[in-house]
Amino acid sequence: MDYLEIHGPTSLSGEVKISGAKNAALPIIALTLLAKNSVKISNMPDVVDIKTLLKLLENLGATTSFDQNYVEIDTCCLTNTKATYDIVKTMRASILVLGPLLSRFGHCEVSLPGGCAIGSRPIDLHLKALEQMGATINIHAGYVQATAPDGLVGANIVFDKITVTGTANIVMAAALARGVTTIKNAAREPEVVQICEIINASGVKIEGIGTGELTIQGNDRELINIEPFSVIPDRIEAGTYLCAAAITNSSIKLTNVRADHLDSVLGKLREMGIETSSDETTIDIKAADFINPVKIITQEYPAFPTDMQAQFLALASLADGTSTIEERLFENRFMHVSELQRLGADISLNGHVANIKGSNELFGADVMATDLRASSALVLAALAAKGVTNVHRIYHLDRGYEKLEEKLVKLGAKIKRLSE
Ligand code: EPZ
Repeated sequence: MDYLEIHGPTSLSGEVKISGAKNAALPIIALTLLAKNSVKISNMPDVVDIKTLLKLLENLGATTSFDQNYVEIDTCCLTNTKATYDIVKTMRASILVLGPLLSRFGHCEVSLPGGCAIGSRPIDLHLKALEQMGATINIHAGYVQATAPDGLVGANIVFDKITVTGTANIVMAAALARGVTTIKNAAREPEVVQICEIINASGVKIEGIGTGELTIQGNDRELINIEPFSVIPDRIEAGTYLCAAAITNSSIKLTNVRADHLDSVLGKLREMGIETSSDETTIDIKAADFINPVKIITQEYPAFPTDMQAQFLALASLADGTSTIEERLFENRFMHVSELQRLGADISLNGHVANIKGSNELFGADVMATDLRASSALVLAALAAKGVTNVHRIYHLDRGYEKLEEKLVKLGAKIKRLSE
């Protein structure tokens, strides 16, 4: 199993190119199930989760090719509509094929995704919305068995909670439904916006894109033509590199990035005394002499993203004062705390609130990654810690960060990927 050996403290300099967004690419790959043509996608991140979902589509009978961040997917001749446990268990976002498969074929079986390290990750809101659209849903032997023999029918959906993949699933299902679907309390994340934009550009009219209220004019099971497009930049990868610069008091430039997707993150960095400047496609972050403590509450977009919580918790460990971070979306997203404590961070947990007493130094140690974003937080802390840190189980990192250690080494970090 691979681990990262990181020597700190280190400072960073130079430029880092941000990859395409994993959380946009996953629903986009599922969306190709609605296409009559071979779909050409550029800026596709080369990460494990993407490979996993492409494999799932191949198991359904799609043909895919992936070369240098460029992907072509043809789903014209699917042979089956069953997403099996062996794949879904490794990547719960596989649930994103449920809406498209059901809407196109009128039946499908998708393994229940199960939970993951950060929480139970239910899909009840996805299923309830599909039932409102006329689907019959049975849960049997660990599978969601969904049928809608006459196709799905437009409905007025109000999500009890804002759900990112739930919104994407229902938008895709509604695209081929008969009649109009409205979704209230819809997710507004940039990744959901891109799915809506691609579908709207194909001729299926969607109103309210970017707002919490979407209206989709379904086309009654007519496959859509999807023109070539590029995946939006990964705002969470970008935020992670911003924190890498901040935690090491470094000045770096991010390229191929959308600063307008990062308002809440840039705002919190500013509150912490870290200045940035940006244009259409780049962000410059300046080294700061010291880091102010901060108060963060994670909420849905455009508020502060839960996927940046762990990284800011690492950063707050070196602030001049006490910070508080409240995690409001997931029930178990503080597993990085005990690992950061091994590096010397002074953090106390009170339910869903972490109190971080900033100190002026961390010390290298062996630590273990537990989930994707927690792993990146450990790498950030290791860059600033005095001595050698070994971050174990970095398969978590490989799921969502493209060439992380290569990009950091290019910025001047002292990192080696080793096997144990
Ligand atoms: C997406 O997960 C992201 N994953 C997550 O990123 C991200 O943390 C999350 O949105 C929140 O922003 C992808 O886009 C592939 P939700 P998702 O449905 O869609 C509850 C990463 O690190 N809920 O928006 O699964 C749920 O329990 C990953 O890249 C229900 O109760 O999250 C949670 O409390 C981690 N019932 C809240 O809603 C449902 O049917 C938000 O979950 C669905 C969700």
